[in-house]
Amino acid sequence: MSIIYKKESGTITIHTKNSSYQMRVTPHGFLQHTYYGRRIEDENMSYLFLNYDRACSGNPDEVYPSRKISLDTMAQEYPGYGVGDYRIHPISLRNSDGSRAVDFRYVGHEIKEGKYSIDGLPSSYDDGDGAETLIVTITDRVTKVTAELIYGVFEEKDIITRAVRVVNNGKGTVKLTRAFSMSLDIPYGKWDMIHFHGKHAFERQTEREPLGHLVKTVGSARGTSSHQENPFVIVADRNACEDFGECYGMMLVYSGGFKLQAEVDQFDSTRLVMGLQDEQFSWHLDAGDAFSTPEVIMSFSGSGLTKLSHNYHKFIRNNICRGKYKLARRPILINNWEATYFDFTDEKLLQIADEAAPLGIEMLVLDDGWFGERNSDNAGLGDWFVNEKKIKCGLKSLIEQINAKGLKFGIWIEPEMVNEDSELYRKHPDWALTIPGRRPNRTRNQLVLDMARPEVRDYLYGRIEDLLSNNHIEYVKWDMNRSIADAYSASAPEDRQGEVLHRYILGLYELMDRITTNFPDVLIEGCSGGGARFDAGILSYSPQIWCSDDTDPIKRLSIQYGTSFGYPVSTMGAHVSASPNHQTGRDTTIHTRGIVAMSGTFGYELDPSKLSDQDKEEIKEQIVQFKKHYDLIQNGLYYRLTEIKKDYYEAWEFAAEDGSEALLNVVATDVQPNPALMHIRLKGLESDAVYEIDDSDLKKYTEGCPPYLLADSVEVKRLTGDALMNAGYTLPWAFGTYPAFQMHFKKVK
Ligand code: GLA
Repeated sequence: MSIIYKKESGTITIHTKNSSYQMRVTPHGFLQHTYYGRRIEDENMSYLFLNYDRACSGNPDEVYPSRKISLDTMAQEYPGYGVGDYRIHPISLRNSDGSRAVDFRYVGHEIKEGKYSIDGLPSSYDDGDGAETLIVTITDRVTKVTAELIYGVFEEKDIITRAVRVVNNGKGTVKLTRAFSMSLDIPYGKWDMIHFHGKHAFERQTEREPLGHLVKTVGSARGTSSHQENPFVIVADRNACEDFGECYGMMLVYSGGFKLQAEVDQFDSTRLVMGLQDEQFSWHLDAGDAFSTPEVIMSFSGSGLTKLSHNYHKFIRNNICRGKYKLARRPILINNWEATYFDFTDEKLLQIADEAAPLGIEMLVLDDGWFGERNSDNAGLGDWFVNEKKIKCGLKSLIEQINAKGLKFGIWIEPEMVNEDSELYRKHPDWALTIPGRRPNRTRNQLVLDMARPEVRDYLYGRIEDLLSNNHIEYVKWDMNRSIADAYSASAPEDRQGEVLHRYILGLYELMDRITTNFPDVLIEGCSGGGARFDAGILSYSPQIWCSDDTDPIKRLSIQYGTSFGYPVSTMGAHVSASPNHQTGRDTTIHTRGIVAMSGTFGYELDPSKLSDQDKEEIKEQIVQFKKHYDLIQNGLYYRLTEIKKDYYEAWEFAAEDGSEALLNVVATDVQPNPALMHIRLKGLESDAVYEIDDSDLKKYTEGCPPYLLADSVEVKRLTGDALMNAGYTLPWAFGTYPAFQMHFKKVK
């Protein structure tokens, strides 16, 4: 049993392998939060809280005449609003009498076997974990607005999930204006927030900032989880680093706008709240109606950031991703986008296939431009019919010819969008989100379809179903290339317009669910102008997401590094593209590009007919190498060995969970003359085991280096785990243009 209720003390305690989480029903019926941190057996943690008369922090009626209990100072599980707690809050609403108050007291709780699910929203699932569910009900005794606080417990994985169902059990209508998924009070400590900000082609950059008395907000109001912030945040002890210290992760399973706030209150207690974005949000609850929030995946690590990342990697891979390709090796693909952009014909695609197949590439993905009048990004979105001026032989025959060359076939779609210059828009202008009387905001010359409308989803389903049932398509890249503005639905009444953005996401999930249910063998790769919807919501339907439109391997390092804090490499779409790179003009070797892309789902995005024979040979080798180490890369433990941009090289490692092997990856980002000797300390090995070192790739790191700049060779072919982890491996001087290498360590005794 990982959830334990003790009547005498009123405590409900959740245990995971390495953490404990506790709340307590106080004698007055408040639901106090008492602890979340390292595992503690069998204690009532409410002893931590001493009640004082705090001037200016008022007291609820039940405790009268005592002045020592205040909602303004109490650590609470899910605080109300407008009744004397002035800190950031997870809920706000307007009652039918116009008042704004919501004041929760405990009603009861239920402990169940298995993992709950949430109506209309994706959430994690039990993958043979023996998960348990706790539902704690709290209510406002006057208005009868009730919140069911829902917890999922994955004991072995050190994961606790949370969601809330707000029910209007009163008689009048309630307007929810904020309904967050969680609130967490941490009464002690000095904390930093690590968040992952960015922009198009530069997503998930790692930033660490101290939390203080200013309220800090991380979020997106763009209708997508966004390039600019990711719905994953870490709150870490100020001294915490990769291998040491306490840290909490919070990840929202949601693909629309979100908000996380953090506040250190007047008595230095930290409160965190997280949920869907409340700007432009309101939700109408008639008597008896309920609203379900998305899920938050929480994890606590008492031993640093790496452990926290490992918890998330395992959980995302096993309990969020679904379907045939959840754990299976995905085909190594070649995508024609950066090879041709819109300028292709069936002959050109066949030529790419001809060149790609002998290299060992397994699938050709036809990107944007194959449908309607889509010859540039100004027209055609919405018209999901093959453009037979470009694909003269027809799609079916093209796919057959590609399959005959030994390649699978995949295709790009951007279902949620429409161009004004399209048949679809001309027929159904009201299907686009626009505000009456206002000219719309356009991004890339496109508008957003109203995914909340069933007829829009039915049209899209019909087009996608037609494509997938009549053609041998084994992969779909599902793109979404803009932030949402003009969130107004022609089909919703005036007082429901605040629901449009969330209903959009519910509609999106319904459509994705229909497609993945009816076409379970099709691999979907999520995409949103690169990585603007890199989140656990999309990962519930597509086990991989295109990480960024920046394919420059050097710039990719910080993108993949930031992404790795919350998401496993098996989710990160990464390709080898042409050099010079199309986004930055930077030249890099195919070797370096291969090493970076291999720490992702791995594929190519270039015109192979333009490659030198030498590069083609290298691609063949890369594919052999990737397949050889596939299991280690995708399922091994991922270690960040350098802190990004702090040195002249970046290093990361994959280690088998049992310590039997490891793969070290190094890229020199700033080659220096006469550098200091660097010792890379490996992680995750067995201390007293002996490892055989395959350093055959090192020659690429020093290629072209004049002999007088090379070290006297020292033959080190075997080292103990102890030596590698405590003293490290000495990095040779790098030479050339961003040289890189991989090194393999295999336990031999
Ligand atoms: C987005 C994607 C790219 C490509 C283009 C096509 O930017 O991220 O990979 O598919 O759209 O228009």
